[in-house]
Amino acid sequence: MLAGKSILLVISGGIAAYKSLELIRGLKERGASCRSILTTAGSEFVTPLSVAALSENKVYMDLFSLTDESEMGHIQLSRAADLVVVAPATADLLARMATGQANDLAATVLLATDKDVICAPAMNVRMWEHPATQDNLAVLKRRGIGFVGPNEGDMACGEWGFGRMAEPAEIVAAVEAYFAAAATRRGRPLAGVRALVTSGPTIEPIDPVRFICNRSSGRQGHAIAGALAAAGAQTTLVSGPTPLPAPSGVTVVAVETAQQMLTACEAALPVDVAVCAAAVCDWRVAGEAGEKIKKTEGAPPPVLSLAENPDILATLSSSGARRPRLVIGFAAETSDVVENAVAKRLRKGCDWIVGNDVGPSSGTFGGEDNTVYLISATGVEPWPRMSKDAVAQRLVGAIGRALEDRP
Ligand code: C5P
Repeated sequence: MLAGKSILLVISGGIAAYKSLELIRGLKERGASCRSILTTAGSEFVTPLSVAALSENKVYMDLFSLTDESEMGHIQLSRAADLVVVAPATADLLARMATGQANDLAATVLLATDKDVICAPAMNVRMWEHPATQDNLAVLKRRGIGFVGPNEGDMACGEWGFGRMAEPAEIVAAVEAYFAAAATRRGRPLAGVRALVTSGPTIEPIDPVRFICNRSSGRQGHAIAGALAAAGAQTTLVSGPTPLPAPSGVTVVAVETAQQMLTACEAALPVDVAVCAAAVCDWRVAGEAGEKIKKTEGAPPPVLSLAENPDILATLSSSGARRPRLVIGFAAETSDVVENAVAKRLRKGCDWIVGNDVGPSSGTFGGEDNTVYLISATGVEPWPRMSKDAVAQRLVGAIGRALEDRP
């Protein structure tokens, strides 16, 4: 599980330090390599020699060691690892971490590291329960430091309660879980994100057999839904009629009319991101006939009277507390793509508009390729002509980065 992983283990001064030797063994058994930093207090409990022997690596103790600095500077030591584990993490070291001190090698490395840190606290129960420790813990958790334990039980000092360091096997399990989650995050950057996509045309009935529709193929919307799901997002695709297969891993809600599409979208809330790629008919027939309209010899053709459909994109963009963190619309334009799309973004109240040229010469409507501009509050980004799948991939990458910036 940990093959090829490099762990930097910080051993600070507590009676639980003897368990760190077993922790080193457990990490190495799973294929990890282990470098250790031993604080001065830690060396009162375990010897540098036993740590070095078990880890088969040099033990670092001194911030101002000429030899260590020439071999591997302390900044490099803090960054060369894949993960930093602090076990035992004493009340003192947690306090120094919380206040950003750099008064020994351990604290300096923990301040300088750009890697994630997991702490296994170990201390007397009163020290653990003290508001100072709990406040430090809250600060560290808020900064993203991970914790395993402490456990409840007998203490070396004769008291009973929380403060026993987690067992080495538990710490190894936490390290394995960390790398498993990191691998998942890498392959599925949108894991935990909820997404809604509209796609396809809508059809608006004139009578039970006739309808108004448009030429949308649904290809771009379906590609976006598929790319979101592949990136790990829990994706609902609300689609008007298209012959396209459902993208893998996507929940499809099939609708026909704009009003049904709006109802389905509202039922899918709350979501983190909504992408409205459907070509929604702007109008429906007012007073749809309940029976097929008959063609009567000599009678004038019927006149259709239209009513405005709800604007799904604008409705989602102004849905108050239920508004997705990121709302993205499309602007299919036959001329002045950028100008029209910029104006549309403001009119609809969405965050981004993907403007695309659907003029007769573009060959994009219903086709495989798309030439788009990504328009946001910060500017206009022209994308080269690419397949609709590639547009979807690139858009999903941009969505991932934007959601990270909008917690
Ligand atoms: O107004 P226009 O149709 O050009 O706007 C296009 C954008 O608005 C697309 O994102 C489309 O999905 C969305 N839209 C909508 N509901 C409508 C009309 C358009 O969601 N009734």
